[in-house]
Amino acid sequence: MMIATGKATRWTTAIAMLSLAATAALARDMSKGLSDAEINTALDAAYAQFRDLDEGANADYIPALAKVDSNIYGIALVTTDGRIHTKGDVASEVSIQSISKVFTMAKVIEERGAGAIAGNMGVDATGQVFNSIVAVEQYQGAEMNAMVNPGAITATSMVSGGSRDEIWNKILAYYSDFAGRPLGVNQEVFKSESETNQRNQAIAMLMYAYGHIKDDPLRATDIYTEQCSVSVNAKDLATMAATLANGGTNPVTGKVVMKSENVPEVLAVMATAGLYDDSGKWLYKTGLPAKSGVGGGIIAVSPGKFGIAVISPPLDAAGNSVKAQKTFEGVSNSLGGIPYAVAPVARKK
Ligand code: DON
Repeated sequence: MMIATGKATRWTTAIAMLSLAATAALARDMSKGLSDAEINTALDAAYAQFRDLDEGANADYIPALAKVDSNIYGIALVTTDGRIHTKGDVASEVSIQSISKVFTMAKVIEERGAGAIAGNMGVDATGQVFNSIVAVEQYQGAEMNAMVNPGAITATSMVSGGSRDEIWNKILAYYSDFAGRPLGVNQEVFKSESETNQRNQAIAMLMYAYGHIKDDPLRATDIYTEQCSVSVNAKDLATMAATLANGGTNPVTGKVVMKSENVPEVLAVMATAGLYDDSGKWLYKTGLPAKSGVGGGIIAVSPGKFGIAVISPPLDAAGNSVKAQKTFEGVSNSLGGIPYAVAPVARKK
């Protein structure tokens, strides 16, 4: 094996710095099309349009979620060149819930490669609700994805570590790197969900029985429940989404959180399954990879451009925030975030 000389190391460092600068310049280029004024106008318009919308209801199968203020309505957008725009209530925090599934899946891919996810729970939409047992039974725990509970609890069980504490601390630190600040757990939500998560325990047992979870399924459920209880505001969520939009590097802190080559697989599963059985409808309207949580948050990623998050606790029947979905449709359309909307290339005559 060749040992790098001082000269070679200097060259490697110079090349790495040039490539970092080029990546940053590219990110700046792709998001610079959006001026601060354009972004603020889009957020203001969506906020004014949907502020008084009164549809849906807080999740109540986790008792603590029913008590959360239904009027919280916050929007945040973070560009890939690190600009932060917010509107409404961005101080209030809710539990991250299923949005956490994205980042645990990312961790597993970072540790084990994308094949580990595809080869275990799979990467196909179930067309079923997020905690469907029918979806597990259909293919004996395969041919589903890490955005629904069976796949998500399995993903949590795949994070490496010698003890519960080690695994948990690693997950929390990873989420914090995406958010750009140390996150904590809403203990009331964690306790409430721990007391009522028998269905998830049963799902984990089934995933163990079918060989997808290799060790203690109840420990995996417990860690999964804690990851769902992490407390976030709209700005945290938007920064997490923007880190994915920016190829795995947090655009605000500059920290490389995940390898850029691992981001596309995460976005692909968000696109096909991020809003569960309503993922098709969502993609049809917004074109963006996204993820919802029963705490009322939704994140969406416009690759190369921005990450956006909306928090509003009342949900529809599929478990997705009503107001957040509507807000995204307006903002994404007016900011040109839809990846499939392209103008034809002009042909030379
Ligand atoms: O496992 C559960 O039921 C919750 N901790 C998370 C579900 C969830 O957020 C579904 N999202 N829309």
